[in-house]
Amino acid sequence: MDRFGGIKVTWFGHSAFKIESPSGKVVLIDPWLSHPKAPAGALDSLQKVDLILVTHGHGDHIGDTVAIARRFNPLVAAIYEVANYLQRKGVSNVLGMNIGGTFDFHGIKVTMVEATHSSTIIDGGREIPGGNPAGFIVKFENGFTVYHMGDTGLFGGLQLIGEFYKPDLVLIPIGSLFTLGPENAAYAVGLLKPKWIIPMHYETFPALTGKPEEFKKALAPEYKDRLIVIAPGETVS
Ligand code: NI
Ligand code: MN
Repeated sequence: MDRFGGIKVTWFGHSAFKIESPSGKVVLIDPWLSHPKAPAGALDSLQKVDLILVTHGHGDHIGDTVAIARRFNPLVAAIYEVANYLQRKGVSNVLGMNIGGTFDFHGIKVTMVEATHSSTIIDGGREIPGGNPAGFIVKFENGFTVYHMGDTGLFGGLQLIGEFYKPDLVLIPIGSLFTLGPENAAYAVGLLKPKWIIPMHYETFPALTGKPEEFKKALAPEYKDRLIVIAPGETVS
């Protein structure tokens, strides 16, 4: 099946994705590949990484960024404060940016957008301010546009994001407690109007109670067939 115009999307569980672009660039978003529900050997399975996007400073999103960056030396983009932190941790190829900004990575256009959440970095028991949390709009070489929402609740700007960026695929948290849960996530889909929807940030821990079945039930009828529920380690295209 080719729903994404030649783009391959692998979910590693939680908010961690690998997206392979039509020209073969490998993009990781929030690469925490060592969590309780991650597929065995996920970190070792990586063959190449060109770009890493980190939505905010929480440990479940910075994840294994430092180790992966040491191995592949990709460009690592994050909000300014998180980028500075990663640089202090030895990531050499960082790009600090902020909400509303766009950069071009070999024809892939990456825009940082708002998320309603928090972003403290915990490092060895110390709390370091991580700037604001964010989401990413990634417009690939073929125009296919992916919106990774990061960790967020509902906010009115989702309607603007839907109108302006017209995401084809939305990666949306549904686990509740720290983010959207099934019902408000379903409402967010109505604001964003995507062609495809992949849920994330659920079932990693018992505290994340939102389930894809509840999400599907809450979705408006026209979106139920656009929902793609995948298992950690699975690739869809
Ligand atoms: Ni978070
Ligand atoms: Mn999180």
